[in-house]
Amino acid sequence: MKTLAGRAILGTFFHAPTLDRLDILPDALIEVAADGTIAAVTRSDDPDHADRVAALGTAVVQLPAGSYGIPGFVDCHVHAPQYPQLGQALDVPLEVWLGKYTFPLEARYADLEFAQTRYAALIDDLLAIGTTTALYFGTVHLEATKLLADLCLDKGQRALVGKVVMDDPDSCPDDYRDADATSGVSETRALIEHVRSHPGNAAGRVLPVITPRFIPSCTDAALTALGELADETGAHVQTHCSESDWAHAHVLARYGHTDAEALDRFGLLTRRTMLAHANFLTDDDRTRVVRRGAAVAHCALSNVYFANSVFPLRAALSRHMHVGLGTDISGGPSASMFEACRATVQSSRLLEDGVDPALPAAQRGRPDSRVDLVTAFHVATAGGGTALDLPIGRFEPGCHFDAVAIDTTARDGGIRLFGDEPLNGVFEKLIYGATRANVSHVWVAGEDRRPT
Ligand code: GUN
Ligand code: FE
Repeated sequence: MKTLAGRAILGTFFHAPTLDRLDILPDALIEVAADGTIAAVTRSDDPDHADRVAALGTAVVQLPAGSYGIPGFVDCHVHAPQYPQLGQALDVPLEVWLGKYTFPLEARYADLEFAQTRYAALIDDLLAIGTTTALYFGTVHLEATKLLADLCLDKGQRALVGKVVMDDPDSCPDDYRDADATSGVSETRALIEHVRSHPGNAAGRVLPVITPRFIPSCTDAALTALGELADETGAHVQTHCSESDWAHAHVLARYGHTDAEALDRFGLLTRRTMLAHANFLTDDDRTRVVRRGAAVAHCALSNVYFANSVFPLRAALSRHMHVGLGTDISGGPSASMFEACRATVQSSRLLEDGVDPALPAAQRGRPDSRVDLVTAFHVATAGGGTALDLPIGRFEPGCHFDAVAIDTTARDGGIRLFGDEPLNGVFEKLIYGATRANVSHVWVAGEDRRPT
Protein backbone atom coordinates (compact mmCIF):
# COMPACT_ATOMS: atom_id res chain seq x y z
CA MET A 1 0.00 0.00 0.00
CA LYS A 2 1.22 3.51 -0.77
CA THR A 3 2.57 5.63 2.07
CA LEU A 4 0.02 7.09 4.45
CA ALA A 5 2.23 10.04 5.34
CA GLY A 6 0.32 13.11 4.16
CA ARG A 7 -2.78 10.98 3.53
CA ALA A 8 -5.60 9.50 5.62
CA ILE A 9 -7.01 6.04 6.26
CA LEU A 10 -10.65 5.12 6.70
CA GLY A 11 -11.58 1.93 8.52
CA THR A 12 -12.46 0.27 11.79
CA PHE A 13 -9.73 0.46 14.41
CA PHE A 14 -9.31 -0.90 17.92
CA HIS A 15 -7.00 0.53 20.56
CA ALA A 16 -6.78 0.50 24.36
CA PRO A 17 -5.42 3.85 25.51
CA THR A 18 -6.17 2.92 29.14
CA LEU A 19 -5.77 -0.48 30.69
CA ASP A 20 -9.41 -1.29 31.28
CA ARG A 21 -11.18 -0.03 28.19
CA LEU A 22 -11.23 -1.08 24.57
CA ASP A 23 -11.89 1.97 22.41
CA ILE A 24 -13.62 0.87 19.19
CA LEU A 25 -13.43 3.28 16.28
CA PRO A 26 -15.87 2.03 13.61
CA ASP A 27 -15.36 3.65 10.20
CA ALA A 28 -13.02 6.25 11.65
CA LEU A 29 -10.84 8.58 9.62
CA ILE A 30 -7.22 8.81 10.76
CA GLU A 31 -5.22 11.60 9.13
CA VAL A 32 -1.46 11.13 9.03
CA ALA A 33 0.90 14.10 8.84
CA ALA A 34 3.88 14.19 6.49
CA ASP A 35 6.17 13.15 9.38
CA GLY A 36 4.14 9.99 10.05
CA THR A 37 2.41 11.22 13.20
CA ILE A 38 -1.36 11.21 13.60
CA ALA A 39 -2.79 14.63 12.78
CA ALA A 40 -6.45 13.90 13.53
CA VAL A 41 -8.82 11.06 14.41
CA THR A 42 -12.43 11.60 13.36
CA ARG A 43 -15.04 9.17 14.59
CA SER A 44 -17.92 8.16 12.33
CA ASP A 45 -20.44 9.86 14.63
CA ASP A 46 -18.54 13.15 14.47
CA PRO A 47 -20.62 15.68 12.52
CA ASP A 48 -17.50 16.60 10.50
CA HIS A 49 -16.80 13.04 9.40
CA ALA A 50 -18.43 13.07 5.94
CA ASP A 51 -17.09 16.54 5.12
CA ARG A 52 -13.56 15.61 6.05
CA VAL A 53 -13.64 12.42 4.01
CA ALA A 54 -15.01 14.38 1.04
CA ALA A 55 -12.46 17.17 1.44
CA LEU A 56 -9.55 14.72 1.48
CA GLY A 57 -10.81 13.03 -1.68
CA THR A 58 -8.22 10.76 -3.24
CA ALA A 59 -5.91 11.18 -0.28
CA VAL A 60 -8.14 8.76 1.63
CA VAL A 61 -7.07 5.13 1.64
CA GLN A 62 -9.72 2.63 2.71
CA LEU A 63 -9.14 -0.52 4.73
CA PRO A 64 -10.71 -3.37 2.75
CA ALA A 65 -13.88 -5.08 4.02
CA GLY A 66 -12.96 -7.65 6.67
CA SER A 67 -9.77 -5.81 7.66
CA TYR A 68 -9.29 -4.04 10.98
CA GLY A 69 -6.57 -1.77 12.32
CA ILE A 70 -4.80 -2.00 15.67
CA PRO A 71 -1.72 -0.19 16.98
CA GLY A 72 1.54 -1.95 16.15
CA PHE A 73 2.91 -4.07 18.96
CA VAL A 74 5.69 -2.83 21.23
CA ASP A 75 7.89 -5.78 22.18
CA CYS A 76 9.73 -4.61 25.29
CA HIS A 77 12.20 -7.48 25.56
CA VAL A 78 13.91 -9.25 22.66
CA HIS A 79 17.34 -10.91 22.57
CA ALA A 80 18.01 -10.39 18.87
CA PRO A 81 20.96 -12.82 18.68
CA GLN A 82 18.93 -15.64 20.21
CA TYR A 83 16.51 -15.83 17.28
CA PRO A 84 18.26 -18.87 15.76
CA GLN A 85 17.41 -20.89 18.88
CA LEU A 86 13.77 -19.78 19.13
CA GLY A 87 11.70 -22.83 19.99
CA GLN A 88 14.58 -25.01 21.15
CA ALA A 89 16.90 -25.47 24.13
CA LEU A 90 14.24 -24.89 26.78
CA ASP A 91 15.03 -27.95 28.87
CA VAL A 92 17.28 -26.52 31.60
CA PRO A 93 17.10 -23.69 34.15
CA LEU A 94 18.30 -20.18 33.35
CA GLU A 95 21.74 -20.45 34.94
CA VAL A 96 22.48 -23.64 32.97
CA TRP A 97 20.80 -22.44 29.76
CA LEU A 98 23.00 -19.34 29.58
CA GLY A 99 26.28 -21.28 29.66
CA LYS A 100 25.15 -24.37 27.76
CA TYR A 101 23.27 -22.83 24.84
CA THR A 102 22.98 -19.07 24.88
CA PHE A 103 26.47 -17.67 25.39
CA PRO A 104 27.92 -20.01 22.72
CA LEU A 105 25.26 -18.86 20.24
CA GLU A 106 25.71 -15.17 21.07
CA ALA A 107 29.50 -15.54 20.72
CA ARG A 108 29.00 -16.33 17.03
CA TYR A 109 27.97 -12.72 16.36
CA ALA A 110 31.66 -11.79 16.28
CA ASP A 111 31.17 -12.92 12.67
CA LEU A 112 29.34 -10.09 10.88
CA GLU A 113 28.12 -12.30 8.04
CA PHE A 114 26.47 -14.59 10.58
CA ALA A 115 24.97 -11.53 12.29
CA GLN A 116 23.71 -10.04 9.03
CA THR A 117 21.58 -13.04 7.99
CA ARG A 118 20.19 -13.73 11.47
CA TYR A 119 19.37 -10.13 12.32
CA ALA A 120 17.81 -9.46 8.90
CA ALA A 121 15.54 -12.52 9.25
CA LEU A 122 14.51 -11.50 12.76
CA ILE A 123 13.54 -7.93 11.85
CA ASP A 124 11.59 -9.14 8.81
CA ASP A 125 9.78 -11.77 10.85
CA LEU A 126 8.92 -9.40 13.68
CA LEU A 127 7.57 -6.77 11.28
CA ALA A 128 5.58 -9.47 9.49
CA ILE A 129 3.84 -10.48 12.72
CA GLY A 130 3.02 -6.88 13.64
CA THR A 131 5.83 -5.78 15.95
CA THR A 132 6.45 -2.16 14.94
CA THR A 133 8.71 -1.35 17.91
CA ALA A 134 11.24 -3.67 19.55
CA LEU A 135 13.58 -3.14 22.47
CA TYR A 136 16.59 -5.27 21.58
CA PHE A 137 19.49 -6.74 23.50
CA GLY A 138 22.33 -7.29 21.02
CA THR A 139 25.52 -9.10 21.99
CA VAL A 140 28.78 -7.88 23.55
CA HIS A 141 30.06 -7.11 20.05
CA LEU A 142 29.98 -3.43 19.13
CA GLU A 143 30.14 -3.98 15.36
CA ALA A 144 27.34 -6.55 15.24
CA THR A 145 25.19 -4.33 17.44
CA LYS A 146 25.77 -1.35 15.16
CA LEU A 147 24.72 -3.62 12.30
CA LEU A 148 21.51 -4.51 14.15
CA ALA A 149 20.71 -0.80 14.53
CA ASP A 150 21.54 -0.17 10.85
CA LEU A 151 19.28 -3.03 9.72
CA CYS A 152 16.39 -1.64 11.80
CA LEU A 153 16.90 1.69 10.04
CA ASP A 154 17.05 0.02 6.60
CA LYS A 155 13.96 -2.08 7.19
CA GLY A 156 11.98 0.68 8.86
CA GLN A 157 11.31 -0.86 12.25
CA ARG A 158 11.17 1.43 15.27
CA ALA A 159 13.77 0.01 17.60
CA LEU A 160 15.85 0.53 20.70
CA VAL A 161 19.16 -1.29 20.52
CA GLY A 162 21.73 -2.11 23.18
CA LYS A 163 25.23 -3.53 23.20
CA VAL A 164 25.26 -6.06 26.01
CA VAL A 165 27.78 -5.40 28.78
CA MET A 166 29.00 -8.50 30.62
CA ASP A 167 32.50 -8.04 31.94
CA ASP A 168 32.85 -10.22 35.03
CA PRO A 169 35.50 -12.87 34.30
CA ASP A 170 34.24 -14.97 37.23
CA SER A 171 30.80 -15.45 35.70
CA CYS A 172 31.24 -14.94 31.95
CA PRO A 173 33.10 -17.20 29.50
CA ASP A 174 36.53 -16.03 28.33
CA ASP A 175 35.44 -16.13 24.70
CA TYR A 176 32.26 -14.19 25.28
CA ARG A 177 32.61 -11.13 27.48
CA ASP A 178 33.90 -7.58 27.52
CA ALA A 179 37.67 -7.38 27.91
CA ASP A 180 37.11 -5.25 31.02
CA ALA A 181 34.69 -2.72 32.48
CA THR A 182 36.33 0.21 30.71
CA SER A 183 35.95 -1.26 27.25
CA GLY A 184 32.38 -2.41 27.91
CA VAL A 185 31.49 1.15 28.86
CA SER A 186 33.44 2.87 26.07
CA GLU A 187 31.85 0.58 23.49
CA THR A 188 28.44 1.42 24.91
CA ARG A 189 29.29 5.09 24.45
CA ALA A 190 30.40 4.34 20.88
CA LEU A 191 27.07 2.65 20.14
CA ILE A 192 25.15 5.64 21.52
CA GLU A 193 27.16 7.95 19.27
CA HIS A 194 26.75 5.68 16.24
CA VAL A 195 22.97 5.52 16.58
CA ARG A 196 22.44 9.17 17.46
CA SER A 197 24.61 10.51 14.65
CA HIS A 198 23.53 8.01 11.98
CA PRO A 199 22.67 9.91 8.78
CA GLY A 200 19.61 7.69 8.24
CA ASN A 201 18.29 8.37 11.73
CA ALA A 202 17.38 12.05 11.67
CA ALA A 203 13.90 11.25 12.98
CA GLY A 204 15.34 9.25 15.89
CA ARG A 205 13.38 6.14 14.97
CA VAL A 206 16.19 3.98 16.37
CA LEU A 207 17.49 4.75 19.85
CA PRO A 208 20.51 3.45 21.76
CA VAL A 209 20.17 1.57 25.04
CA ILE A 210 22.61 1.08 27.92
CA THR A 211 22.45 -2.68 28.49
CA PRO A 212 24.14 -4.35 31.45
CA ARG A 213 23.00 -7.95 30.87
CA PHE A 214 22.18 -8.49 34.53
CA ILE A 215 24.00 -7.94 37.79
CA PRO A 216 25.42 -11.50 37.95
CA SER A 217 27.42 -10.93 34.75
CA CYS A 218 28.76 -7.43 35.56
CA THR A 219 31.40 -6.00 37.87
CA ASP A 220 30.59 -3.11 40.19
CA ALA A 221 32.97 -0.96 38.13
CA ALA A 222 30.93 -1.53 34.97
CA LEU A 223 27.59 -0.99 36.72
CA THR A 224 28.82 2.26 38.32
CA ALA A 225 30.14 3.64 35.04
CA LEU A 226 27.00 2.63 33.12
CA GLY A 227 24.86 4.42 35.70
CA GLU A 228 26.97 7.54 35.17
CA LEU A 229 26.62 7.15 31.42
CA ALA A 230 22.82 6.91 31.76
CA ASP A 231 22.82 10.16 33.70
CA GLU A 232 25.11 11.88 31.23
CA THR A 233 23.37 10.78 28.02
CA GLY A 234 19.74 10.34 29.09
CA ALA A 235 19.75 7.10 27.09
CA HIS A 236 17.37 4.25 27.80
CA VAL A 237 18.58 1.45 30.09
CA GLN A 238 17.62 -2.23 29.99
CA THR A 239 18.63 -5.18 32.13
CA HIS A 240 17.20 -8.30 33.76
CA CYS A 241 15.93 -7.94 37.31
CA SER A 242 14.99 -10.59 39.88
CA GLU A 243 13.95 -12.98 37.13
CA SER A 244 14.22 -16.37 38.84
CA ASP A 245 14.88 -17.79 42.29
CA TRP A 246 18.52 -18.21 41.34
CA ALA A 247 18.99 -14.72 39.84
CA HIS A 248 17.17 -13.02 42.71
CA ALA A 249 19.15 -14.92 45.37
CA HIS A 250 22.43 -14.25 43.58
CA VAL A 251 22.06 -10.48 43.94
CA LEU A 252 20.83 -10.74 47.54
CA ALA A 253 23.90 -12.80 48.42
CA ARG A 254 26.25 -10.38 46.65
CA TYR A 255 24.95 -7.12 48.13
CA GLY A 256 22.62 -8.01 51.00
CA HIS A 257 19.86 -6.15 49.20
CA THR A 258 17.64 -6.73 46.19
CA ASP A 259 18.30 -6.38 42.49
CA ALA A 260 16.06 -3.31 42.17
CA GLU A 261 17.77 -1.57 45.10
CA ALA A 262 21.21 -2.41 43.73
CA LEU A 263 20.31 -1.08 40.27
CA ASP A 264 18.97 2.07 41.88
CA ARG A 265 22.19 2.61 43.86
CA PHE A 266 24.14 2.30 40.59
CA GLY A 267 21.93 4.98 38.99
CA LEU A 268 20.41 2.45 36.63
CA LEU A 269 16.79 2.85 37.68
CA THR A 270 15.54 5.78 35.61
CA ARG A 271 12.34 6.90 33.87
CA ARG A 272 13.80 5.20 30.79
CA THR A 273 14.75 1.90 32.39
CA MET A 274 13.17 -1.39 31.34
CA LEU A 275 13.53 -4.24 33.82
CA ALA A 276 12.97 -7.61 32.18
CA HIS A 277 10.85 -10.05 34.18
CA ALA A 278 11.10 -8.58 37.72
CA ASN A 279 9.05 -11.49 39.07
CA PHE A 280 10.53 -11.40 42.56
CA LEU A 281 10.22 -7.67 43.30
CA THR A 282 9.51 -7.04 46.97
CA ASP A 283 6.95 -4.51 48.13
CA ASP A 284 9.75 -1.99 48.73
CA ASP A 285 11.12 -2.70 45.25
CA ARG A 286 7.73 -2.00 43.71
CA THR A 287 7.56 1.34 45.53
CA ARG A 288 11.07 2.16 44.32
CA VAL A 289 10.38 1.20 40.69
CA VAL A 290 7.19 3.28 40.64
CA ARG A 291 8.94 6.25 42.29
CA ARG A 292 11.65 6.22 39.65
CA GLY A 293 9.11 5.84 36.83
CA ALA A 294 10.99 2.77 35.60
CA ALA A 295 9.17 -0.06 33.84
CA VAL A 296 8.89 -3.83 33.78
CA ALA A 297 8.87 -5.95 30.63
CA HIS A 298 6.45 -8.74 31.47
CA CYS A 299 7.45 -11.88 29.56
CA ALA A 300 4.67 -14.30 30.40
CA LEU A 301 5.70 -17.14 28.12
CA SER A 302 9.39 -17.03 28.99
CA ASN A 303 8.49 -16.93 32.68
CA VAL A 304 6.91 -20.39 32.31
CA TYR A 305 10.34 -21.78 31.41
CA PHE A 306 12.77 -19.71 33.45
CA ALA A 307 11.14 -17.57 36.16
CA ASN A 308 9.82 -20.21 38.58
CA SER A 309 6.70 -18.08 39.05
CA VAL A 310 4.08 -15.85 37.44
CA PHE A 311 4.68 -12.08 37.46
CA PRO A 312 1.80 -10.46 39.39
CA LEU A 313 0.78 -8.10 36.60
CA ARG A 314 -2.54 -7.01 38.05
CA ALA A 315 -0.86 -5.98 41.32
CA ALA A 316 1.82 -4.04 39.44
CA LEU A 317 -0.75 -2.20 37.32
CA SER A 318 -2.88 -1.32 40.30
CA ARG A 319 0.18 0.36 41.81
CA HIS A 320 0.55 2.36 38.57
CA MET A 321 3.79 0.70 37.61
CA HIS A 322 4.75 1.12 33.95
CA VAL A 323 4.59 -2.29 32.29
CA GLY A 324 5.10 -3.47 28.71
CA LEU A 325 4.97 -6.99 27.29
CA GLY A 326 7.97 -8.88 25.94
CA THR A 327 8.46 -12.08 24.01
CA ASP A 328 11.98 -12.50 25.49
CA ILE A 329 13.10 -14.28 22.33
CA SER A 330 14.38 -16.97 22.86
CA GLY A 331 13.52 -17.49 26.53
CA GLY A 332 9.95 -17.73 25.29
CA PRO A 333 9.40 -19.94 22.23
CA SER A 334 7.25 -17.51 20.22
CA ALA A 335 8.15 -14.27 18.43
CA SER A 336 4.52 -13.19 18.26
CA MET A 337 3.11 -10.45 20.44
CA PHE A 338 -0.35 -11.91 19.80
CA GLU A 339 1.00 -14.97 21.59
CA ALA A 340 2.44 -12.74 24.34
CA CYS A 341 -1.06 -11.28 24.91
CA ARG A 342 -2.53 -14.78 25.11
CA ALA A 343 0.12 -16.01 27.53
CA THR A 344 -0.38 -12.92 29.69
CA VAL A 345 -4.08 -13.62 30.10
CA GLN A 346 -3.56 -17.34 30.63
CA SER A 347 -0.76 -17.09 33.18
CA SER A 348 -2.67 -14.45 35.16
CA ARG A 349 -5.56 -16.89 35.48
CA LEU A 350 -3.23 -19.63 36.68
CA LEU A 351 -1.89 -17.20 39.29
CA GLU A 352 -5.39 -16.32 40.44
CA ASP A 353 -6.75 -19.87 40.59
CA GLY A 354 -3.50 -21.58 41.60
CA VAL A 355 -2.33 -24.80 40.05
CA ASP A 356 -2.20 -27.55 42.66
CA PRO A 357 -5.49 -29.49 42.70
CA ALA A 358 -4.48 -31.10 46.00
CA LEU A 359 -5.04 -27.75 47.73
CA PRO A 360 -8.50 -26.43 48.61
CA ALA A 361 -9.68 -23.74 46.16
CA ALA A 362 -9.42 -21.00 48.78
CA GLN A 363 -5.72 -21.68 49.35
CA ARG A 364 -4.71 -22.51 45.81
CA GLY A 365 -4.11 -19.15 44.18
CA ARG A 366 -3.72 -15.43 44.65
CA PRO A 367 -7.05 -13.57 44.50
CA ASP A 368 -7.58 -10.63 42.12
CA SER A 369 -4.71 -11.56 39.84
CA ARG A 370 -6.37 -12.14 36.51
CA VAL A 371 -6.19 -9.69 33.66
CA ASP A 372 -8.42 -9.81 30.61
CA LEU A 373 -7.50 -9.57 26.95
CA VAL A 374 -8.08 -5.81 26.79
CA THR A 375 -5.59 -5.22 29.59
CA ALA A 376 -3.04 -7.53 27.98
CA PHE A 377 -3.53 -5.73 24.66
CA HIS A 378 -3.18 -2.35 26.36
CA VAL A 379 0.09 -3.42 27.95
CA ALA A 380 1.31 -4.82 24.59
CA THR A 381 0.67 -1.49 22.82
CA ALA A 382 -0.04 1.76 24.70
CA GLY A 383 1.50 0.47 27.94
CA GLY A 384 4.73 -0.40 26.15
CA GLY A 385 4.75 3.10 24.64
CA THR A 386 4.41 4.73 28.04
CA ALA A 387 7.01 2.39 29.51
CA LEU A 388 9.49 3.43 26.80
CA ASP A 389 8.50 7.09 27.05
CA LEU A 390 7.54 7.11 23.36
CA PRO A 391 4.35 8.42 21.68
CA ILE A 392 3.25 5.07 20.24
CA GLY A 393 0.55 2.44 20.82
CA ARG A 394 -2.49 4.72 20.61
CA PHE A 395 -4.57 6.23 17.83
CA GLU A 396 -4.34 9.78 19.12
CA PRO A 397 -3.12 13.03 17.59
CA GLY A 398 0.61 13.42 18.17
CA CYS A 399 1.30 9.68 18.30
CA HIS A 400 3.24 8.03 15.49
CA PHE A 401 1.01 6.17 13.06
CA ASP A 402 2.51 2.76 13.87
CA ALA A 403 -0.26 0.32 13.06
CA VAL A 404 -1.18 -3.10 11.79
CA ALA A 405 -4.01 -4.14 9.48
CA ILE A 406 -5.47 -7.56 10.18
CA ASP A 407 -7.25 -9.26 7.33
CA THR A 408 -9.80 -11.60 8.86
CA THR A 409 -10.56 -13.08 5.44
CA ALA A 410 -7.02 -14.43 4.87
CA ARG A 411 -7.62 -18.03 3.83
CA ASP A 412 -4.55 -19.40 5.58
CA GLY A 413 -5.01 -17.31 8.72
CA GLY A 414 -6.39 -18.30 12.10
CA ILE A 415 -9.53 -16.15 12.23
CA ARG A 416 -13.02 -17.13 11.08
CA LEU A 417 -15.76 -14.52 11.30
CA PHE A 418 -19.37 -15.46 10.58
CA GLY A 419 -20.62 -11.91 10.32
CA ASP A 420 -22.76 -11.78 13.44
CA GLU A 421 -19.97 -11.10 15.95
CA PRO A 422 -20.22 -7.81 17.85
CA LEU A 423 -17.13 -5.62 17.36
CA ASN A 424 -15.68 -6.48 20.75
CA GLY A 425 -16.02 -10.14 19.78
CA VAL A 426 -14.21 -9.39 16.52
CA PHE A 427 -11.43 -7.81 18.58
CA GLU A 428 -11.13 -10.92 20.77
CA LYS A 429 -10.98 -13.15 17.71
CA LEU A 430 -8.28 -10.95 16.21
CA ILE A 431 -6.00 -11.22 19.22
CA TYR A 432 -6.69 -14.88 19.99
CA GLY A 433 -6.65 -16.05 16.39
CA ALA A 434 -4.31 -13.90 14.29
CA THR A 435 -1.33 -15.53 12.65
CA ARG A 436 1.22 -14.03 10.31
CA ALA A 437 -1.09 -14.81 7.38
CA ASN A 438 -3.65 -12.36 8.80
CA VAL A 439 -1.21 -9.45 9.04
CA SER A 440 -1.67 -7.61 5.74
CA HIS A 441 -0.07 -4.20 6.44
CA VAL A 442 2.43 -2.99 9.01
CA TRP A 443 2.92 0.77 9.14
CA VAL A 444 5.73 2.49 10.98
CA ALA A 445 5.39 6.29 10.93
CA GLY A 446 2.87 5.87 8.12
CA GLU A 447 5.10 3.75 5.85
CA ASP A 448 4.09 0.17 5.09
CA ARG A 449 7.07 -1.88 6.26
CA ARG A 450 5.59 -5.35 5.96
CA PRO A 451 8.24 -7.47 4.22
CA THR A 452 7.05 -8.70 0.83
N1 GUN B 1 19.32 -13.30 32.30
C1 GUN B 1 20.53 -12.98 31.81
N2 GUN B 1 20.60 -13.19 30.49
C2 GUN B 1 19.40 -13.64 30.12
C3 GUN B 1 18.84 -14.03 28.87
O1 GUN B 1 19.48 -14.00 27.82
N3 GUN B 1 17.55 -14.43 28.88
C4 GUN B 1 16.80 -14.46 30.02
N4 GUN B 1 15.54 -14.86 29.97
N5 GUN B 1 17.31 -14.14 31.21
C5 GUN B 1 18.59 -13.71 31.25
FE1 FE C 1 15.82 -11.85 28.61
